Amino acid sequence: MNVVILAAGKGTRMKSDLPKVLHRVAGRPMIEHVVQRALELGASRTIVVVGHGAELVKSALAAYAVVYVDQLEQRGTGHAVMQALGAIAHAEPTLVLYGDVPLTSLATLRALVAAANTHTLPVLTVDMADAAKYGRIVRDASGQIARIVEFKDANAEELKISETNTGMMVLPALAPARWLPKLTPNNAQGELYLTDVVALARAEGMASLPVSAANEAEVEGVNSKVELARVERYFQAQQAHSLLEQGVEIADPARFDVRGTLVCGRDVSIDVNCVFEGKVSLGDGVRVGAGCVLKDVEVAAGAVLKPYTVADGEGKVIRIGAGAQVGPFARLRAGANLGVNSHIGNFVEVKNSRFGPGSKANHLAYVGDSVVGERVNIGAGVITANYDGAAKHTTTIEDDVHIGSNSVLVAPVTVGRGGTVGAGSTITKNTPPEQLTVARGKQVSLSDWQRPKKQA
Ligand code: UD1
Ligand code: CA
Repeated sequence: MNVVILAAGKGTRMKSDLPKVLHRVAGRPMIEHVVQRALELGASRTIVVVGHGAELVKSALAAYAVVYVDQLEQRGTGHAVMQALGAIAHAEPTLVLYGDVPLTSLATLRALVAAANTHTLPVLTVDMADAAKYGRIVRDASGQIARIVEFKDANAEELKISETNTGMMVLPALAPARWLPKLTPNNAQGELYLTDVVALARAEGMASLPVSAANEAEVEGVNSKVELARVERYFQAQQAHSLLEQGVEIADPARFDVRGTLVCGRDVSIDVNCVFEGKVSLGDGVRVGAGCVLKDVEVAAGAVLKPYTVADGEGKVIRIGAGAQVGPFARLRAGANLGVNSHIGNFVEVKNSRFGPGSKANHLAYVGDSVVGERVNIGAGVITANYDGAAKHTTTIEDDVHIGSNSVLVAPVTVGRGGTVGAGSTITKNTPPEQLTVARGKQVSLSDWQRPKKQA
């Protein structure tokens, strides 16, 4: 099967410099959702008709094996599909999709494709509460489609029809080359209407069958930011619904966003306003507090992410061990790997560092490029000074170490097993195991000192 995706339109009502089909739904350009559907349907060729912002559209789809054809002037949907005549395999049927209708379900499209054969032209239709400016489906006595009449060409009777054209249809093998050159712009908009193929099919004795979409939302096109926001919420509601059905507790499905994939174990709970990006997995019993933003993170069973934890693996997976506690207000960056039952508290940043089981940094610390052993306690205000202005260096903190508050560990440096670093120390050399190391000015008190007095 060929799939032709129409994406040449400008999208004036988006009031944006970005081509319409590149506006994002769930973090991905709308057209990418459509291209993925084509792949899921097993398209042998996917042809994207580009016009406005063609180069941007092509670069956004660089990862996909699709063919592009240009439509320099937007002279209607029929004209757009005509541009693909040189690119389709004519012995195969052609499914037409729109680049700005991102959420049609696989099941619905499969039903549309299943209705296609060499003597049938199936069209995806939907019943609308308010058919507004859509093309109306005029059925004949047998329930087949007699013709599709555009809103601007319709008479008062036709405007009462609630069944509308979604635009998606399957042109039978060999038909595009026969039909498309016959389209004429004899209509209110002076365009070449793809919808006129219905009359051409019937003139050849073919049937045009309506296939119904499951609901209005799945065939909703995006022409404005209002519609984009509505489509986004519909998509998120669907994702939330499917997780709720799997047993995930979501405090408010209307304040929940997955822009990627989220896999959850049993008894996971997610409070309001969390955003999941990239690939996130939450093990059994994980609790995610309000306002967490997680990207490329694996959270093991029983871990708790307190409110406003931000973790971004930047493509490298962040690992949070079983029973760990993170946040509130913690920041985990690429390469953070937190051991079982470790604690990362408020205003602590962890980058490219491994925290052993049971180790803690509870308040106001920066831990970067570090290897932290087991049962380590990192006090408030501790900083690993990992960067000398040219290169990054490693800080090693061995098992059972306590680092006193407000200490700076100047890397490369190792704090030996079981050692203690006194508060306020600046550690520039390795410290021996089991001992107290203090590196700060000694405290003195001057008994004969007088505070200066203001002159009268
Ligand atoms: C079309 C249908 C109408 C249907 C509606 C559903 C026709 C004649 N009308 O309306 O029956 O109810 O879709 O949304 O087919 N495009 C191009 N090149 C063009 C024209 C359009 O690439 O020359 C693309 C647009 O970017 C968009 C899609 O085709 O993605 C639909 O175009 P749009 O103008 O929104 O639809 P209508 O023609 O108004
Ligand atoms: Ca139009």
